[in-house]
Amino acid sequence: MEHLNHDEQHISDRSWKPMLHKDVDPEIMNVLKVLVDKLPQLPVHVHKLIKLASDTESDLHEVAKVAMSDPGMVSKILKAVNSSYYGLSKKTENLHLAITLLGFQEVRKVALQYGLTKVFGEGWIYKGYDTRDLWEHSYLVSICSETLVKSKNQKEAGRLLTLGILHDIGKYALYKLAVLMKKRGVRPFGRKALLSEVNLLEKEEALFGVNHTIVGDMLAQKWGLSERICAVLGYHHNPSFWEIDNIPPEYLKDVVIICISDFIVRHLDGKSKQLPEPAPEYFDILDLTLPLDNIITTKLLEKIEDAKDFVSNIK
Ligand SMILES: [Fe+2]
Ligand SMILES: [Fe+2]
Repeated sequence: MEHLNHDEQHISDRSWKPMLHKDVDPEIMNVLKVLVDKLPQLPVHVHKLIKLASDTESDLHEVAKVAMSDPGMVSKILKAVNSSYYGLSKKTENLHLAITLLGFQEVRKVALQYGLTKVFGEGWIYKGYDTRDLWEHSYLVSICSETLVKSKNQKEAGRLLTLGILHDIGKYALYKLAVLMKKRGVRPFGRKALLSEVNLLEKEEALFGVNHTIVGDMLAQKWGLSERICAVLGYHHNPSFWEIDNIPPEYLKDVVIICISDFIVRHLDGKSKQLPEPAPEYFDILDLTLPLDNIITTKLLEKIEDAKDFVSNIK
């Protein structure tokens, strides 16, 4: 496994910092506002499911009722449970049974994926951007966050699942922007994006004049998601660039869990170089001891492999 040199990872050594909201060129901000405004609302029932995901009191019938309001969502849930992953000898059409077999949390994730597909369209590929890969990445980050948070608090675990699934929605919006630009013959802003040593956020800023954390926050606000979700989406890469006191303390733990999970998933995928590793003090917040090999336990690896199997079955 790849070992990172932690001596080189100090935040103060990192001269490049991602843009903040206030740094975005006003003209680009106007274009973005129009684009975000044009994106559909998150369907109401998906919104309800996000709320249910944070509520320990919600039960199977409640989830089934929300899912049943949309035949497309029902078929996604049935497709997941009837996939080879569950090895049922006979396919089921029974939604209650499907929800019981899948488990509450899987249903929420399938429903969220379905909702995002409704907003951004079925999987599509554009210049190396693949929304199906992005879905798999988000799903794995959500599984990893849930595993890293040691608390037995169901509410916290449910919230992290949702944050994991949603953390990169800004990327979907940027991809839409890329397609629009291509259609209209607008050239990307800069050539810097082509350089291999440039990090992921730097590439986005060179291409679009903005990065996915800022757009994610804007989109989550348009969808009326909670202040916490908007903030975590906006700050989720800060631990790779900024000191701790740049993140509001009330959101710090969630931001750190998502950022570290994101890093672990990319590391396992051979993409850890896309962004700098979060600084060691962020690992301390979660009582995690570096190096990364200590944190990536057999249990975590098993969960991630399992999740990959599941995702490939419902893609
Ligand atoms: Fe991200
Ligand atoms: Fe991510």
